[in-house]
Amino acid sequence: MKGVFIDYTKTMKKDFVDLWDLDPDEAWYIVKRTLKVKKGEDKHSPVLEGKTIALIFTKPSTRTRVSFEVGINQLGGRSTFLQESQLQLSRGEDVKDTARTLSRYLDGVIVRNHSHKWLEEFSRWATIPTINALTDKAHPCQILSDVYTLYEAFGEEIKNIKIAYVGDGNNVCNTWLVGAGLFGLNLFVATPEDYGPDSHYFQAGMDLANFTGGNIYLTTDPLEAVKDADVVYTDVWVSMGEDDAQRKKEALKEFQVNEDLLSHAKESVKVMHCLPAKKGEEITEEVFEKHADFIFLQAENRLHTQKTLLEFIFSKL
Ligand code: CP
Ligand code: NVA
Repeated sequence: MKGVFIDYTKTMKKDFVDLWDLDPDEAWYIVKRTLKVKKGEDKHSPVLEGKTIALIFTKPSTRTRVSFEVGINQLGGRSTFLQESQLQLSRGEDVKDTARTLSRYLDGVIVRNHSHKWLEEFSRWATIPTINALTDKAHPCQILSDVYTLYEAFGEEIKNIKIAYVGDGNNVCNTWLVGAGLFGLNLFVATPEDYGPDSHYFQAGMDLANFTGGNIYLTTDPLEAVKDADVVYTDVWVSMGEDDAQRKKEALKEFQVNEDLLSHAKESVKVMHCLPAKKGEEITEEVFEKHADFIFLQAENRLHTQKTLLEFIFSKL
């Protein structure tokens, strides 16, 4: 932490419910420290020694769950996985009562839940840090880590590259808007008109971009977004908890990341996918395999970035 100015007096506990819970200095600090630790120039401190962090997940997860559990262990802490169906929550216990109870046993909680509002309520009542592991509106750990992956690949040039998000205007897309604003990046988002991102997240991204110098453009034309792009990012067309709507898939057909679409991007284009992927829908198998090294580096970096996030949150307590 030495040498970096952080205002530790701002809050008593640090939640990470949305990406804007970090200010630009804090967000850049996490990204840069992750690189330093990954390169072996520094080590994470064992900030979780003697601490127990619970993961409450109401939806499936491979990357987020495992990378957090491993990261917590590596930082000296213990994780406990709580399936919502095994908690009294499933029988209607109030969110606020669950939050107040768990706060008396645990040191932190990581939650994957459908309703973002539910998570906001949980974090208001919890007296321990609450981390969003994905909701219907946001996936802040994902985008923090994805920005790290781009910083690892592009260094300081990251602010000059063109990033295109193509596909459904979902939780990942919403959070990209905030990420572009927070880090001052150039982001083009192409979605069908009826499946655009949440206006609240767009506004938050624009407000931050005014402050950091980022640029955010929304379009319904995937070619416009991908033209000369350095990075093309996509995510599933049907998110967890959504109906597998044929109408939606029809609307998204032109937004598939395939060789044709990528021929409009820079030759050196990097393709990203938060995973899991539905090959043949939002991305072709051919494109996926061609860019698999970068996509799995992206998955690996969830672990590195989240460890720094945990270190950042818990070294404040
Ligand atoms: N990208 C991501 O969050 O993956 P999981 O759903 O496997 O956690
Ligand atoms: N938008 C996807 C992201 C999965 C990590 C979903 O919510 O299912």
